[in-house]
Amino acid sequence: SATRYYDWVLQEKNFTRLCSTKSILTVNGGFPGPAIQVHKGETIYVNIRNQGLYGVTIHWHGVKQPRNPWSDGPENITQCPIQPGSNFTYEVVFSSEEGTLWWHAHSDWTRATVHGAIVVLPAAGTTYPFATPYAQQTIILASWFKADVMEVINSALATGADPNTSDAFTINGQPGDLYSCSKASTYRLLVDYGKTYMLRIINAIMNEEQFFAIANHNLTVVTQDASYIKPITTPYIMITPGQTMDVLVTTNQPRSHYYMASTAYNDGDVPYHNGTTTAILQYRGNYSTPSTTPLPNLPIHNDTTAADNFTARVKSLASKAHPISVPTNITTRIYMTVSINERICANASCAGPNNNAIAASLNNISFDTPSIDILQAYYRGINGVFQGNFPSNPPLFFNFTGEVVNSTKYPTFATKAKFLKYGEGVEIIFQGTNLVAPENHPMHLHGFSFYLVGTGYGNFNKATSPKTYNLVDPPEANTIGVPKNGWATIRFVADNPGVWFMHCHLERHASWGMDTVFIVRNGNTEESKLRPPPAHMPPCSKS
Ligand code: C2O
Ligand code: CU
Repeated sequence: SATRYYDWVLQEKNFTRLCSTKSILTVNGGFPGPAIQVHKGETIYVNIRNQGLYGVTIHWHGVKQPRNPWSDGPENITQCPIQPGSNFTYEVVFSSEEGTLWWHAHSDWTRATVHGAIVVLPAAGTTYPFATPYAQQTIILASWFKADVMEVINSALATGADPNTSDAFTINGQPGDLYSCSKASTYRLLVDYGKTYMLRIINAIMNEEQFFAIANHNLTVVTQDASYIKPITTPYIMITPGQTMDVLVTTNQPRSHYYMASTAYNDGDVPYHNGTTTAILQYRGNYSTPSTTPLPNLPIHNDTTAADNFTARVKSLASKAHPISVPTNITTRIYMTVSINERICANASCAGPNNNAIAASLNNISFDTPSIDILQAYYRGINGVFQGNFPSNPPLFFNFTGEVVNSTKYPTFATKAKFLKYGEGVEIIFQGTNLVAPENHPMHLHGFSFYLVGTGYGNFNKATSPKTYNLVDPPEANTIGVPKNGWATIRFVADNPGVWFMHCHLERHASWGMDTVFIVRNGNTEESKLRPPPAHMPPCSKS
């Protein structure tokens, strides 16, 4: 199969949205950035030339990159940033993924504007497990901040408070009719009557899960996170930041204009952007422009039942051509609390809860990002960069959703990783807590797809909860929502040697320390060992 080479330039560019103009970091001047299209199993090379103002890295979200964490991208986890005036060529190795994924910057909050679609078509000579759609279109949901995104997070971290919410959501770069100064530029998808279209939907939003729907049209969801699922016909989807879904839409309604729309699903009491972004599904043909365009009936923002009813329907296709293999021999089991915490304010008072700063943690370890990447430290045996003792249990088996004691409220700040043996079966039981605020958490793992074998409300129960597991057709994903005050169990085989980041895909939570690292040791055969680094990796100091 062909080898594709992409040449991308990171550059600042002025964009006008919501009646004002600002400079944003882009790839090749686009918002969203360029799409990548490959066939399953191909390898591509993407040369990044940084002509921007600060160091950046790029991550290929959902691409497993077998044995090749050198090109995975998270800043100071697998590489140091590509500094202005320099370049780095990523080798992106596609293996079992098929469907839609995306790429994004993985440095601070730069992914707000530096992101784009990855379309993985079936391998040559194979086809979809459904009739080939008439046409396809990527639909990228994103956030727009009037302020500079780096200032938004940096000032939030300085004061210890919640960052400002975005000023708009966008569909393919446009806020849409419901926002000021946005009507003329609303994204329009022109369609022919009586066809089936595939929409490849990506939630690139910074901090909010989304409900998405199209007025008068059902959606048939056929993939999640580039893995086939049993088709779900539904009036709406719920999609978390990081997730991708392919949906089929049949244009069988009277020729007219219909809104597609996306709005926040948020059942916490945390600040969130409550606007609705719209685009127009516009039938081709001769008809007079309708005087009103119908909006879809989206569930209201705190409709947890609507969100969970949709999510519960997602099951792997698990067919002969697309089999699954859920590990049943679990040799490493990790109970992992997912918490919002407090950090005692260093100087005087902070603007977070109880005059403290907000923090976040996994097993009450709030991740401190090192200044040398962990992959290099591991590979070269550099001491003092990370500790390999991330715990397999929370500090107390406290009542996750109830009592708060100081030892759980204030986390430990450290750079800890968890070692895994090559080829072992791993289970992680995520438990949401209510230490400072209960919230949903879309947890994302690099280097793997995993199976979501169970989920529930309240405290995980070691005796009864595992009896509810689905080991027959659980969804395969790279990002799953841990429900507010609830739990979720994932399983995967640690068959990808290297260093792999795991974090909440709500960007403010990741910035507060809701992150950790897995290091999968080498196996015995050549094919089960980490590849050597490329000749050139970006250096870890600016000088
Ligand atoms: Cu979508 Cu760690 O990333
Ligand atoms: Cu989170």
